[in-house]
Amino acid sequence: MKDSVYRAPKGTRDLVWPDSERRRSFIDLFAGIVSRAGYAEIVPPMFEHIEVFQRLGDGTDVVRKEMYDFEDKGGRNIALRPEQTASIVRAYAEHRPSLPWKVWYAGPNFRYERAQKGRFRQFDQVGVEALGTDDPHLDVEVIAIAWRFYEALGLRQVNLLLNSVGTSQDRTRYIEALSGYLEKRKDDLSTEAQETLVSNPLRVLDSKRNEDIGVVSEAPSILEHLSDDANSHFNRVQEGLEKLKIPYSVEPNLVRGLDYYVQTTFEFTTESIDAAQDAIGGGGRYDGLAAEMGAPATPGVGFALGLDRTLMACEAEKTFIGPEQLLQIYVVDTTGGENSLVITDQLRQNGFKVDRSFGDRSMKAQMKAADKSGAKIALIIGEDEVEKGVVTIRDLRGEEGQEEIASDSIIANLEKRLG
Ligand code: HAM
Repeated sequence: MKDSVYRAPKGTRDLVWPDSERRRSFIDLFAGIVSRAGYAEIVPPMFEHIEVFQRLGDGTDVVRKEMYDFEDKGGRNIALRPEQTASIVRAYAEHRPSLPWKVWYAGPNFRYERAQKGRFRQFDQVGVEALGTDDPHLDVEVIAIAWRFYEALGLRQVNLLLNSVGTSQDRTRYIEALSGYLEKRKDDLSTEAQETLVSNPLRVLDSKRNEDIGVVSEAPSILEHLSDDANSHFNRVQEGLEKLKIPYSVEPNLVRGLDYYVQTTFEFTTESIDAAQDAIGGGGRYDGLAAEMGAPATPGVGFALGLDRTLMACEAEKTFIGPEQLLQIYVVDTTGGENSLVITDQLRQNGFKVDRSFGDRSMKAQMKAADKSGAKIALIIGEDEVEKGVVTIRDLRGEEGQEEIASDSIIANLEKRLG
């Protein structure tokens, strides 16, 4: 399709087999793990009234620069979802399910970002949200679910970075202290960081620019501004992770890109892909968000993992490789196609992955197609076979050669060969 004038929009791509099947297996694996912990699937809409996402924070890039927003034909201000936590808390506020409310989700999100390797404008996330208790053990449960999922994928080079941003009062006091410090050191900061200082001082901590790194390393730490309650919450989370033997490092400069967080925040990074896009997941507590959406105050915690980036990490670590073949059997029929019509249907009903060729093609052309299909076995039906009441089974990949078997023992024979 090189010459086609139509192309997928920048930052999007077509997932074709085997990547499409890897994506599905990834979600299935995740669904298995989270449903064992009592999380039920939720499928929120892909767009919402823009106010829902404005709760992510006026100073965040997601709201200021990256929103896919538009006015619909009824004059409503709508945005494609840049993430799902806000939608889920909106759903909670709307339906008021009984608590605790534990849900999981999988699906695409949209952010108008600078597209590059590992950073897309449409990307998939899987995640969980748990509302209804501020017990630090729930933070630990949520982190552990993500960790066990990475383990189940076979990933070994994942780091868990942990922080607390305290209660909203702690956060406000800290932002004041931080802004005061950064204002004093303003001349040492990059121009970009000087601008960020005005819109969102916390984000300056996240700067990777050389001139900023020195300034940030001497900045006051959030951990020195935690109230006693926040401190004891954070300690309980750390103790819980230690009990489960989940390694972590406390990273006081960890700033998440969304504003709703209080108390615990965390991010998963990988050593196996480019440092610029090394965040393969993240999450935290958002105890104030439900009230902001008009529900009674309800604490909540959750995470989302980037499917696209996590699969890139799997590729780099040579794990969760995905399916090897689409088909097991290819039916070759030189008698006009009636036989393959029937046998293909029977084999599919018996659970085999089977295809055939269409159009009255020569034996040679059909065998070529069988080979190209990746199937392990060709099941050949010619005039000879029909006369004798047999089919020929040919091993296309191994050493087993070919044999004629009676038509009534095909299923048993294939079960033995393919398991
Ligand atoms: P987030 O950190 O914005 O958090 O996104 C979570 C993950 O989604 C990232 O770590 C990354 O792997 C992936 N991701 C984000 N943007 C892109 C992109 N443009 N291209 C590819 N992957 C991307 C949230 O979305 C929060 N809702 C997480 C959460 C749930 N917090 C509490 N509950």
